[in-house]
Amino acid sequence: MKHSRILGMGSYLPEKVLTNADLEKIVETSDQWITERTGIKTRHIAADDQSASDLGVEAAKKAIEDAGIDAKDIDMIIVGTATPDKMFPSSACYIGDKLGIGGVPAFDITTACPGFVYGLSIADQFIKTGHRKNVLVVGTEVLSRLVNWEDRTTCVIFGDGAGAAVVTSSEEPGILSTHIHADGGYGDLLYCNNGLRGQLGDFPEPQIVMRGNEVFKVAVKTLSSIVDETLEANNMSKDDIDWLIPHQANIRIIQATAKKLGAGLDKVVVTVDKHGNTSSASIPLAMCEAIADGRIKRGDVCLLESFGGGFTWGSALIKY
Ligand code: ACO
Repeated sequence: MKHSRILGMGSYLPEKVLTNADLEKIVETSDQWITERTGIKTRHIAADDQSASDLGVEAAKKAIEDAGIDAKDIDMIIVGTATPDKMFPSSACYIGDKLGIGGVPAFDITTACPGFVYGLSIADQFIKTGHRKNVLVVGTEVLSRLVNWEDRTTCVIFGDGAGAAVVTSSEEPGILSTHIHADGGYGDLLYCNNGLRGQLGDFPEPQIVMRGNEVFKVAVKTLSSIVDETLEANNMSKDDIDWLIPHQANIRIIQATAKKLGAGLDKVVVTVDKHGNTSSASIPLAMCEAIADGRIKRGDVCLLESFGGGFTWGSALIKY
């Protein structure tokens, strides 16, 4: 059987930066509260004319360049996003068009924050079975368009950005294993209506609704169990992991997962302070930063894990 590995990665952050001090002028909050409860200091905000596919295609171009291939070599596009350009066509279709590779199968996946991990998992299956050679996996979000800017419990948390990976077929294993899960029984704790007629709830306009404290507790428990599941599946111990690259939702959730791995934050890639929670973009954004500054090197074993609305959760163990 063939293996898959990450050949190249890229990311993109919009220019505009919103600080906690800026947010103090918008809602009843403080830099101290946001920093202590979430670890977030700044987040990037897309320009009015930037869609998820605009951000995603910038990250994709960098990933393709980093992979040293041509866009025409891509034979599948998978996009994780909770904030697609439209309900249809998918943002993946738009990204394919912007890359000039119409005809290549392209689809979005609606798995909230674990979108990138789910995307890696799907890419891995298509490549291992020999059906595809170079799959572009993108996580891209314009969550600033979805939050209610009068709701201090959510608007301080989220940010915009995109990250992408080219996953290719390989003789050597790169993606060692992926593990994906979902439980719709928790749907009421974190959701976003789509605004369709006849489906109106308390919040008919599309916006993120979150019972943060309850989400927090399940997230910590679930992420801890997926660390165990991943290590067991690979017959590995905590010491075999070089880097933990968690979804960047909240520094306290990240610290709890690091503790589970018996790791200090020096083995964990943290960008939540600068990016906020960028949902499906957060892991590739974090990974790109740690590759660029030389922390993550080729051959390092990286544990990617994420949790989000659904609930959905998942992990990918990769040898970069
Ligand atoms: N500024 C000041 N005070 C605030 C703010 C704010 N921005 N937001 C809430 N508060 C207040 C609340 O009103 C509450 O006040 P009260 O005690 O007078 O009622 C108090 O702060 C505590 O509120 P909690 O919700 O209990 O605060 P908590 O410590 O749980 O932190 C947070 C909230 C940051 C949202 C946290 O629960 C969290 O990170 N949850 C997990 C989020 C997550 O991981 N989501 C999944 C991924 S997202 C996705 O899938 C799209």
